[in-house]
Amino acid sequence: MPPPTGCASSSSPWPGPDVGPVIDGFVPPPYPYDRLRELHAVAEAHEGGCVDLSVGTPTDAPPALAVAALASSGSERGYPPSIGSPAYREAAAGWMARRLGVTVDPGQIAACIGTKELVAGVPQWLRLRTPGRDTVLYPAVSYPTYAMGATLAGCRAVPVAVDDSFRIDLASVDPADADRALCLWVNTPGNPAGGLDDLGAAARWGRARGIPVFSDECYVEFTWTGPARTILEHGTDGLVAVHSLSKRSNLAGARAGVYAGDRDLVHYLSEVRKHAGFMVAGPVQAAAVAAWGDDVHVDDQRARYRRRLDRLAAILDAWGLEVALPDGAFYLWIAAPGGDAWSLARRLAEEAGVLASPGEFYGPAGSAYVRLAVVRPDEQIELVARRLGVV
Ligand SMILES: Cc1ncc(COP(=O)(O)O)c(C=O)c1O
Repeated sequence: MPPPTGCASSSSPWPGPDVGPVIDGFVPPPYPYDRLRELHAVAEAHEGGCVDLSVGTPTDAPPALAVAALASSGSERGYPPSIGSPAYREAAAGWMARRLGVTVDPGQIAACIGTKELVAGVPQWLRLRTPGRDTVLYPAVSYPTYAMGATLAGCRAVPVAVDDSFRIDLASVDPADADRALCLWVNTPGNPAGGLDDLGAAARWGRARGIPVFSDECYVEFTWTGPARTILEHGTDGLVAVHSLSKRSNLAGARAGVYAGDRDLVHYLSEVRKHAGFMVAGPVQAAAVAAWGDDVHVDDQRARYRRRLDRLAAILDAWGLEVALPDGAFYLWIAAPGGDAWSLARRLAEEAGVLASPGEFYGPAGSAYVRLAVVRPDEQIELVARRLGVV
């Protein structure tokens, strides 16, 4: 039997006339952050422990109104609607109108259990629908789940080059890859580098080629240069915006997000996902309605991240690193001296007790950088300043 497209295969190591080719089973690669155990122990040895800036997991409090809704919805008994309750989808639509300036019919919005599972699942569902295509395009320096979603679907993960400002360079896509593309992922503001893509250009590029464009916008309210932007400013045909409450409302532990846009794509995905049993828990849906309804807590969080980005950049600058501030998101993306990210990560662990992510976690094109997430409280940022003697 020939190996399926995109899967690794090999011949049997046991030669013999009656032994046919063996298909290698999928072996999940080590999870990127699991590779930081040793550096974590180095940082943890400091008095006061490790200041873990490796993962973009919020540590500030979620809004009290969302926590209250979580505890009091009375929705535990029955199955929640997979697509999201009407209140859930209306709350997301209301938020998009208020904060992003776009009007989206709640019928073009559906729920996801946080956005990582959606990012990881989209290629397999698109492939089921369009078996003649087998390629996922995504920025060469980006959140690793775009590529992993392709791999999990047995598809080709094809990175698209980024420019010096870490914006996707769509002119560099090989037309042969575009012909095979199931979708293009863009991410603005981008993780890890905070770049801002021209989403109008991405929308036009996808439409001209009949390639759905999925725009991951989970950091949209942490845009520092210019206004928040969504791909849905450019219509909904062939476009899907993906949003999360994990970063906006510090609700990463609750798992709530939405995908919104092209009516047909959203309908198709929501039907497949209903069959597969994807449901945001009822109490979480109630909490999400409260969170999307409030902007004050997000403005407070914006101020916190802005303050920490400025302060940590100044500390590292005084320590001798060249640190540019991002146009969006809450990461410092720092060029490692000599291009050696692992040795900068080690120095940060040894001298500052900081755990950083080496840039190769976000693709080989990021391997000369490290990423720091300013998710820890201000006191821990000040602890770093004292350890480095730059108070
Ligand atoms: C770019 C990007 N997309 C999606 C996610 C997933 O977030 P969640 O699954 O919590 O919604 C993350 C998380 O770090 C991210 O950085």
